[in-house]
Amino acid sequence: MKIYIDSSDIKEIKEINKTKLVDGITTNPSLIAKQNKNIKTILKEICNEIKGPVSAEVTAVDCEGMLKEAKILKKIAKNIVIKLPLTFEGLKACKELSAKGIKTNVTLCFSVTQALMAAKSGATYVSPFIGRLDDIGKSGVGLIQDIRKVFDNYKDLKTKILSASIRNVDHVKEVAKAGSDIATIPPKVFHEMYKHELTDKGLKIFLDDWNSTNQKIS
Ligand code: E4P
Repeated sequence: MKIYIDSSDIKEIKEINKTKLVDGITTNPSLIAKQNKNIKTILKEICNEIKGPVSAEVTAVDCEGMLKEAKILKKIAKNIVIKLPLTFEGLKACKELSAKGIKTNVTLCFSVTQALMAAKSGATYVSPFIGRLDDIGKSGVGLIQDIRKVFDNYKDLKTKILSASIRNVDHVKEVAKAGSDIATIPPKVFHEMYKHELTDKGLKIFLDDWNSTNQKIS
């Protein structure tokens, strides 16, 4: 499963990218708003750091407006992916952009039929929101399992499942088990993914024992 980072904060992104484990980035208008910087500046900085796909979301709500914004966003960098809302207008825009070979990420997906519509519109990625479904008492992971099953029934559907709105490491584990192609992960959850208290305890024991030998590896 590919790992994307769900952030518009270049400092956080650069820190995490020291691991070279970042396959891509997703942004959204709320994440951009937190930065107090121009959207183009933010996206340029991110695209300079990360060579994989970087999702940039349109804010127009009509197809024509979305296409205009897509043209502007696309010019920022080669690896920009146009993020569109899963609405009637968004699907129209997705179909047009896909026909031109422009990569798209259809976002705010909360049902299997929505995912199917995104796939039929030629979306490169569809983003089902796990955490926000859990928030209303539905199973976010269940949605990923269902979309995986449906997409696997129809091999002509090439759309990648990009699990979004991930809130914890358990979500990451469960969407990976369900066969999600990608998970977009908040920085905080990324840093929880490699930690385990037994790793810390175990390392301490090893180092204490080692130091008692007064040896050095040289
Ligand atoms: C996905 O592309 C979105 O940016 C994001 O995952 C939304 O997550 P949230 O529900 O935590 O805001």
